[in-house]
Amino acid sequence: MKRILKITGAVLGSLLLVLGLFCAYVAITGVPTYDQPNIPKISVELTPERVARGEVIAQIQCMECHADKNNRLTGKYMSEVPAVFGKLYSKNITQDKEKGIGNWTDGELVYFLRTGVRRDGTFAPVMPQFPNMADEDLKSVIAWLRSDRFPVQATSEEPQASELSFVSKLLSHTLMKPLPYPQTFVAMPDSADPIALGKYTADAIGDCYACHSGDMLDQDKVHPEQSKGYYGGGIEMVGENGEPIITANLTFDEETGIARKYTKEQFIKAVKMGVRPDGSILRQPMAPKIGLTDQEVGAIYEYLKTVPKVKNNIVQKSAEVQLAENK
Ligand code: HEC
Ligand code: HEC
Repeated sequence: MKRILKITGAVLGSLLLVLGLFCAYVAITGVPTYDQPNIPKISVELTPERVARGEVIAQIQCMECHADKNNRLTGKYMSEVPAVFGKLYSKNITQDKEKGIGNWTDGELVYFLRTGVRRDGTFAPVMPQFPNMADEDLKSVIAWLRSDRFPVQATSEEPQASELSFVSKLLSHTLMKPLPYPQTFVAMPDSADPIALGKYTADAIGDCYACHSGDMLDQDKVHPEQSKGYYGGGIEMVGENGEPIITANLTFDEETGIARKYTKEQFIKAVKMGVRPDGSILRQPMAPKIGLTDQEVGAIYEYLKTVPKVKNNIVQKSAEVQLAENK
């Protein structure tokens, strides 16, 4: 008996030691750096169509996290990120050669947006990766970044560097990691097929599942539909005034899903204009997605009908109740 205890003790002790060493390693090294990647040779031709399409994607993605108060992509403090992750700042992605991305090649941008890894091998946690965005749409984003549009004009301001918490550093060694660069061409969805168009718009362009699934971290970026609680909602986010806001259950579950309460037209209005059927306004971080077409948002609605129903009753406290409770 004594012997067993001794052995168990020794095993536990060495496990703790290994764990301790790993934590010390994480604390010292911070976010891991990878081998310098093989950057693909890509040269994006600027066409008016691409710039226009890139602008739509930028409005629902890049602008959300990189635009300052003047609507320029100089980067900003990301107040909606819960405090456990530290103080996070995005970066200047204007055409400025020193502070922005003026010196990045098209290939470097594509590689980074797919994988999260920069040309020097450093990894950017929190910045979303876009493994399923069609090659053509990625090119459109890059065409827009290179265009004469106001938000991307060279500006030399820059936010301070992020102060990542230990939790974020630990996550960058475990759950938040670089994605592999796709080996094959990623095609646009068939726009005549609402289910395909809806899945693409929601998962590959809109990143809707990233906020509307069951867990902010336990997600499968390459196969979003395998994410925990896919479209069942329940992630607690931080609103504009620091109040908690819980993401909605977008599945068609009879009792707890919200989608069945909406007609397709009402759903389109909510997503594009940020207004619910009863007239109430959707709060940040649910931003109106004006640039998406009615066809695209209607297709998301059709796609959500096919998603496995999740029973998850989201009780949203009104801002007044929350304020009263915090007093
Ligand atoms: C959810 C917020 C978020 C969204 C959406 C987002 N980014 Fe970022 N991005 C960040 C953060 C945070 C960083 C900084 C990461 C770091 O400090 O390592 C970053 C870094 C970058 C960088 C690296 C800049 C540098 O100097 O190292 C580029 C390029 C970039 N983003 C481009 C984009 C583009 C293009 C889009 C739209 C398709 C986009 N981002 C959407 C949050 C976001
Ligand atoms: C950055 C996180 C985030 C992203 C991305 C996001 N949502 Fe939301 N969404 C929220 C939050 C938070 C709420 C709750 C807002 C509130 O209660 O005021 C919400 C609410 C909604 C609602 C209203 C639900 C209700 O209570 O009636 C709909 C519909 C919706 N989202 C659809 C979408 C669609 C479609 C997409 C993708 C195109 C999307 N959302 C992307 C965070 C997000």
